[in-house]
Amino acid sequence: MDANHSHHDHQSLTRDNERLQSQYAEIASLAGGLAHEIRNPLSTIALNLDLLREDLAVGDSPRERRMLQKVTTLRKQCVDLERLLTDFLQFARVGTLNQQPADLNQLVQQFIDFYQPQADDLGIEISPHLSANLPLVNIDFRLFHQVLTNLSRNAQQAMPRGGVLELQTYCRDDQVFLDIIDTGDGMSPETQSKMFDTFFSTKSEGSGLGLPTVRKIVGVHGGTIHCDSELGRGTRFSISLPVAEAPQ
Ligand SMILES: Nc1ncnc2c1ncn2[C@@H]1O[C@H](COP(=O)(O)OP(=O)(O)OP(=O)(O)O)[C@@H](O)[C@H]1O
Ligand SMILES: [Mg+2]
Repeated sequence: MDANHSHHDHQSLTRDNERLQSQYAEIASLAGGLAHEIRNPLSTIALNLDLLREDLAVGDSPRERRMLQKVTTLRKQCVDLERLLTDFLQFARVGTLNQQPADLNQLVQQFIDFYQPQADDLGIEISPHLSANLPLVNIDFRLFHQVLTNLSRNAQQAMPRGGVLELQTYCRDDQVFLDIIDTGDGMSPETQSKMFDTFFSTKSEGSGLGLPTVRKIVGVHGGTIHCDSELGRGTRFSISLPVAEAPQ
């Protein structure tokens, strides 16, 4: 009798869960579609503002200068909106995975090659500590490149006067770890408690989708992400992923 009861509970929970998942998928796809639809008119607006700006730049009356300033402000707002839409679409699209057994060291090395010139410009020293003989993990390479991009951008923004960005890989207890460590401003406990909330940002031009996207990507890979941070000292994000099953 009891067993029967819990069996029914289990079934209805599964049904609830499926219903919620399909509702979630529908809302996500609607929101993604909306963001996409806003993009085209927005780029028309931006283009026309560029043309207006060119016209106004020729004139030199005070009135034209005032107009140019306002149009420039509007144009900047377009750039911010475009970035918000891009970030949002990236967040909404996580879900379709193209997973393959991969070497995290290779991912990190590829990312460093890509990021090095920018880091040099900003006085950021990249310090890799890549453990040899790392087991493979099942990842979507492109999405993990985005994880590294988002975390490094945060690190970079926390080190406006430069610093060290350490990238570590290691293996422990059937998990492969990827740590991203910076010597930047660090976070207060309050910021840490909100950092994964969608649209939470302490930056004037942040959309607050960087970390939520990172957490979502790590989550769909069956991994976890932890953060240690101290104001004035720096921040460590630690990502763990299950070791890929050996092929049968
Ligand atoms: N490495 C870091 N050092 C210090 N603070 C950080 C770090 N990473 C994240 N934060 C804090 O967490 C907040 C949320 O980060 P998140 O990446 O989600 O958004 P954002 O960087 O503000 O905006 P976006 O990434 O969308 O441009 C940041 O505004 C910042 O306050
Ligand atoms: Mg960010």
